[in-house]
Amino acid sequence: MVNLSRFSVEGKVAVVTGGSRGIGRAIALGLAQAGADVVVTSRKLPDLENVAEEVKKLGKKAMPIAAHIGKMENIRTLVDAVMNEFGRIDILVNNAGCTPGIGTILTNEERLWDTIMNLNLKGLYFMSQAVARIMKEQGGGAIVNVASMDGYKPEPYVGIYSISKAAVIMATKSMALELAPYKIRVNAIAPGPVSTKMLDSHWFHLPEEQAKTEKAELAKQVPLGRIADPDEMVGAVIYLASEASSFTTGDTILIDGGCTIASPEIISEI
Ligand SMILES: NC(=O)c1ccc[n+]([C@@H]2O[C@H](COP(=O)([O-])OP(=O)(O)OC[C@H]3O[C@@H](n4cnc5c(N)ncnc54)[C@H](OP(=O)(O)O)[C@@H]3O)[C@@H](O)[C@H]2O)c1
Repeated sequence: MVNLSRFSVEGKVAVVTGGSRGIGRAIALGLAQAGADVVVTSRKLPDLENVAEEVKKLGKKAMPIAAHIGKMENIRTLVDAVMNEFGRIDILVNNAGCTPGIGTILTNEERLWDTIMNLNLKGLYFMSQAVARIMKEQGGGAIVNVASMDGYKPEPYVGIYSISKAAVIMATKSMALELAPYKIRVNAIAPGPVSTKMLDSHWFHLPEEQAKTEKAELAKQVPLGRIADPDEMVGAVIYLASEASSFTTGDTILIDGGCTIASPEIISEI
């Protein structure tokens, strides 16, 4: 018989990077609803404080901590602060990510590469290292990375982002292999288009009406016919963070409304 209590993360301590808005905020609130105390972290404290208040209203402990995940010193300070407050970390969600510019292989500058790789890949890797060392001493834990469908299928003009997310999918497998002996599972989700500030930044340079049209056009390219709400990413994260997925590690779950099944041309014929 299926025991649905295996989806509970009651009594666990979760850290969610990029927890101040968008997908990270939804994940933080979802984990709190599933029973966890939640640390939310990003660069801007006021936004984090708002999310922490929302977590507390769900009856769980919350701690907002400002940190730049691309900076090693910030990672150390963040993890120390969590350990001082909670004494353990059971779940890490590496959600913080960025795509701060567009360009192609012919135009991209080194600075854009460094900014994206520094947060999306290096930050994720060394945040995982810092937390995995703690989880090893505790006897286990769960790490959930937020990749992207772009890690499977590159988008034009955001090539560096796509490369970083493909690397996140491989980092998930590599870390899963090396951490399995310590009962630390590492998995990922790969979202398709989700309605957040990051997605809207694609059209920030356009007038409002044109931006709306472009967004509607994007929705038409999704087999399910729409852009996702951040809440739709949460179920898979709870699954991967909880005992419900106790035999799953190194996996990446696509949550893309079917985008990677077929090309937009084929989808428009359906
Ligand atoms: N939205 C989509 O369509 C989509 C699709 C596929 C994958 N994803 C992935 O989902 C994750 C969340 O994206 P989102 O759409 O929710 O984006 P978002 O709304 O832009 O949120 C990004 C979060 O990351 C934080 N952040 C940015 N730079 C940071 C840094 N250097 N250090 C620490 N935190 C930082 C931001 O807060 P601060 O500004 O306060 O630092 C914010 O909390 C990302 O990894 C993204 O690549 C998104």
